[in-house]
Amino acid sequence: MSIRRLRLQNFRNLEAIDLQPAPGLNLLCGANGSGKTSLLEAIYLLSLVRSFRSKKLKNLIAHAATQFTVFAELVGSEGRDYPLGIQRRTSLDETEVLLRGQRPGSLAELASQLPVQLINPDAFRLLEGGPKERRQFLDWGAFHVEPGFIHAWQRFQRALKQRNSLLRHARIDPLQLDLWEKEIAQTGEAVSRYREDYLQTLTPLFNHLLERLSNLDAIRLHFQRGWDKNTDLAENLLVSRGKDREQGFTQSGPQRADLRVSIAGRSAIEVLSRGQQKLVVSALKLAQGELLARAGKKQCIYLIDDLPAELDRNHREVFCRVLESQGSQVFITSVDAEALDIDWQYPEKNLWFHVEQGQISPKT
Ligand SMILES: Nc1ncnc2c1ncn2[C@@H]1O[C@H](COP(=O)(O)OP(=O)(O)O)[C@@H](O)[C@H]1O
Ligand SMILES: [Mg+2]
Repeated sequence: MSIRRLRLQNFRNLEAIDLQPAPGLNLLCGANGSGKTSLLEAIYLLSLVRSFRSKKLKNLIAHAATQFTVFAELVGSEGRDYPLGIQRRTSLDETEVLLRGQRPGSLAELASQLPVQLINPDAFRLLEGGPKERRQFLDWGAFHVEPGFIHAWQRFQRALKQRNSLLRHARIDPLQLDLWEKEIAQTGEAVSRYREDYLQTLTPLFNHLLERLSNLDAIRLHFQRGWDKNTDLAENLLVSRGKDREQGFTQSGPQRADLRVSIAGRSAIEVLSRGQQKLVVSALKLAQGELLARAGKKQCIYLIDDLPAELDRNHREVFCRVLESQGSQVFITSVDAEALDIDWQYPEKNLWFHVEQGQISPKT
C-alpha cells in the first residue's frame, strides 16, 4: 500500500501541494511551522478521517479558505491504482469521503484500505496515557489481522450499551438483562481472545525489533483482559450485577482491558527515559506493521514526525536503518536535514523534500 500522488488544497498552511512521493522513504525537512506535521496529518486523515491533533476537522481548513481537499492516488496491494479523496467545507457539518469515486460503506472499510502508523514526539503517551490508548493499539492490530474481530467488537459494544442502559432503569426486566449479558459474554470472550492471540503473535516481532533499535531487554508485554482471571465473563457479569447497578454501568469486562508494558516488574513509564520510551513505542508500532505485512494483508504507511527528537545519533541511525528494511512507504520529518544525513543503505532510493512556508519542493 502506498501513495503515488498526493494533492492538497487549503489544508492548514498547505495551500496547494502536488507531491509524487517515493514508494520507499520520503524525507521532509524544514523549519518550525513550515508545514511538515500538517503533511503527515493529511495522510493520517486519509486513513482514519481523523486528525491526531485536532478534534474538529474544520480547524484543518486554511484560515482564509472555506474548504480543504486531500486527494491521493493509492497503489493497492494488487498493484492497481485507485483514488481516495476527502473534503471538508465550513458550510457543511460532515466530511465528504470518496473512495474509488464512491462513499465508503463505513469508516472501518476505509481504514482497512490504508493502514497508517504514526510515530511522533507524543508517542510515549501510548505508555503513559490511560488503558484506552493501549486497547486501541491492540484493537487496531486485531482489526487488521483478524477478519472476525470487527463483527465481534461491534456486537459487544452494542450489548454493553444495552446492559448499561438497563442498569440505570428503576425496574429491570430480568429477561432482558439475561439476554444482553449472554450476548456480552459471548462476544466479549471472543474480543478478548482476538486481542490475546494478536498480542501473542506480535510479541516475538516486537522483541526482535526492540533488540535492533536499542539495548533494552526484558521488556514484558502483558495482556490484562479486564475482569477476574478465574471467572468467565458470564459469571463475572452475574456476580457484579448488584455493584454495577449501584454505579450505573458495567465495571469490568473487555471494555477495561489493558496492555501492561513493564521492565523488571515495574511499569515501563516509570523506569525508561523519554528516548527509550520512544524506542519501545516505535518497536510496538513497527511490529504491528510488520505483522500486517506478514499476514499477507497490506503494507502500512509509516509517518514518523520529528524522527531525531529524543534520539542520539546512534539511535537515529539504527532507527532509520530499521525503517529502510521494512520495505514500506515512510514519511519522515526533521527540522534539520543534517540529522538524517546518515549512512543509508540505499541512498539512491530516498526522496528528499524541502518544506518552507507551506510549499514542498523536491531536493536534489
Ligand atoms: N487552519 C490553518 N490555516 C492556516 N495555517 C494554519 C492552520 N492551522 C495551523 N496553521 C499553521 O500552519 C503552520 C504549519 O504547522 P505545522 O505543520 O505544525 O509545522 P511544522 O510541523 O513544520 O513545524 C503553522 O505555522 C501553523 O500556525
Ligand atoms: Mg511539526
